[in-house]
Amino acid sequence: MNKVVLITGVSSGFGLDAAKILIKNNYIVYGVARNEKKLEEIKKLGINTYKLDVTDYNEAKNVILDIIKKEGKIDILVNNAGYGELGPIEEVSIDNAKRQMEVNVFAMANMIKLVLPYMRENKSGRIINISSVAGRVSTYFGGWYNISKYAVEALTDTLRMDVKKYGIEVTAIEPGPFKTNWGIIASDNLIKTTKGSVYESDGIDVANFYKEGYLKENFLIKDPIKVSKLIAKVCMKKHIKARYLVGRFTRSMVFFSKILPVRMTDKIKMSTKK
Ligand SMILES: NC(=O)c1ccc[n+]([C@@H]2O[C@H](COP(=O)([O-])OP(=O)(O)OC[C@H]3O[C@@H](n4cnc5c(N)ncnc54)[C@H](OP(=O)(O)O)[C@@H]3O)[C@@H](O)[C@H]2O)c1
Repeated sequence: MNKVVLITGVSSGFGLDAAKILIKNNYIVYGVARNEKKLEEIKKLGINTYKLDVTDYNEAKNVILDIIKKEGKIDILVNNAGYGELGPIEEVSIDNAKRQMEVNVFAMANMIKLVLPYMRENKSGRIINISSVAGRVSTYFGGWYNISKYAVEALTDTLRMDVKKYGIEVTAIEPGPFKTNWGIIASDNLIKTTKGSVYESDGIDVANFYKEGYLKENFLIKDPIKVSKLIAKVCMKKHIKARYLVGRFTRSMVFFSKILPVRMTDKIKMSTKK
């Protein structure tokens, strides 16, 4: 029987290419996102789509019920929807901070809560949370994005133990920077939050560093297909690991942040400023 996978944030980046790979491998793929126009295009690829803001919890429930009605099960949930509310803590409004946590953390938890009863009933299931290396190592002006991804790490680790005895596996994929819309949205947010503040010129420097890489690729920021292939592989593998770091220097970033003095790692991270 074909496996049913639900991917949040399917309209672009990692989620879209992972969905394409899974379709080619005979998975029944459902995807949600907000951008209706893009979803119409994606439908033509054989991906079943729903327009959904993941923070609309009533609508999210309806989507899950509809998939269950059609397929009778959801084998895999890929929690991928997210964005980067970069900016200094002093300048990011609490409303924007709450929205960041709502999309990246609470909506993720809500999707998990919605699929778990069906996975438990089937005595099997796989939950793949797209975290970030920014959930392991904090970054300069990473602010609420860092906080949200650290929370995703904790959510993933504690959930894995909750559901182990019900045959449900839980993992986190932790990408470094890859060339998707994420970098453009995140650097625009950083420019917006620092504008007119004491952080403005540093904000522009860091945003430009991101933007240059995210527009052109560079030594650090690469083609996102690598992450999409990994997501698809983690869907297909018989046995999975608790977490997957992916991307240039991600392993060294985590390793050195553990062994070097904090003052030194802060200096390295802040060298994105010109
Ligand atoms: N690219 C990187 O460098 C990088 C590195 C580490 C981790 N990540 C993480 O990877 C995940 C995917 O990002 P990406 O790089 O592929 O960026 P992306 O191209 O911007 O994709 C983000 C996806 O999330 C969806 N989304 C955002 N807010 C949503 C909401 N409220 N409800 C439903 N869908 C929503 C977007 O669709 P709509 O706008 O149509 O809703 C889009 O499909 C994110 O969780 C991100 O934090 C990215």
